[in-house]
Amino acid sequence: MSLPLVLDCDPGTDDALALFLALGSPELDVLAITVAGGNVGLDRTLPNARALVGLTKRAVPVFGGADRPLLGAFTSETRVHGIDGLGGIALPEGPAAEADHAADAIRRIVRSAREPVTLVGIAPATNLALALMTEPGIAGNIKQIVLMSGAWAEGNATPAAEFNAVSDPEALAVVLACGRPIVLATLEIAAQALCTKAHLAAMAASGTGACLRAACAIQGTVPFGRRLGGAGAALYDPVAVAWLVRPDLFSTQEAYVTMDLGPGPCRGRTVIDRWGRTPHAPNATVLTSIDAAGFFGLLTERFNRLP
Ligand code: BDR
Ligand code: CA
Repeated sequence: MSLPLVLDCDPGTDDALALFLALGSPELDVLAITVAGGNVGLDRTLPNARALVGLTKRAVPVFGGADRPLLGAFTSETRVHGIDGLGGIALPEGPAAEADHAADAIRRIVRSAREPVTLVGIAPATNLALALMTEPGIAGNIKQIVLMSGAWAEGNATPAAEFNAVSDPEALAVVLACGRPIVLATLEIAAQALCTKAHLAAMAASGTGACLRAACAIQGTVPFGRRLGGAGAALYDPVAVAWLVRPDLFSTQEAYVTMDLGPGPCRGRTVIDRWGRTPHAPNATVLTSIDAAGFFGLLTERFNRLP
């Protein structure tokens, strides 16, 4: 039995690899891809998601959603993902997007599913929050929510905050408070499995499929940032999906996670109580370590299952 899930994304270079990992993994039953603006605007992330799904030749519906956060202004991250979101790697146009808004699709899919659905959020959490806010009852049929969001230490978008979290902090607060099990893949876990030039070369040499080649070409455009020592690039979003496929590659810790929603310099920070310094019961499972070799083996094997 494969795990039914909805993947909410903003492709996005690392989103592209996460999408391929999800669609290449028989353990997962991807019911829909929902898309938000994030790394780049929705006008780019939606065609990117469609193109990526098209390359996999899988009949998975793609829904466009939020083009801005619940509050405040939209900001993109073109320094990492390029102007088009996929590092300038051109892909054939994918299938058309569905007509429904992503939040409506999430509500309908979760409401009508025969078994509880897993939500995977690797973008600003706006679509997920809109679905939960407009129909809180769907929480009862959500198995868990796996998020690439936040950090227990410093951020990547601001000194305090991670990009997805700070892009829509109120939305993330809604999701964290929904009462369903939350799994959090933070900046720190991805930093333990940096994709180096050697990893990419090995992956590229492992096959000839269109998805594998696209994954390697896209990832090859990602700059190695100073924050991570210049040795490689973090695969933030694939790590979150990998947790669902191979939880044995990870160790975890239960923690209470809350959001800094203030207007100051810490806005968007995920405050993760790893050491029980607050009286609150844990509301999240935080991924704390990853078997990097196992992770890259998994990516390579799963990309090679795709066309
Ligand atoms: C997260 O933000 C985006 O830039 C990436 O796609 C990832 O989801 C990392 O901070
Ligand atoms: Ca993303």
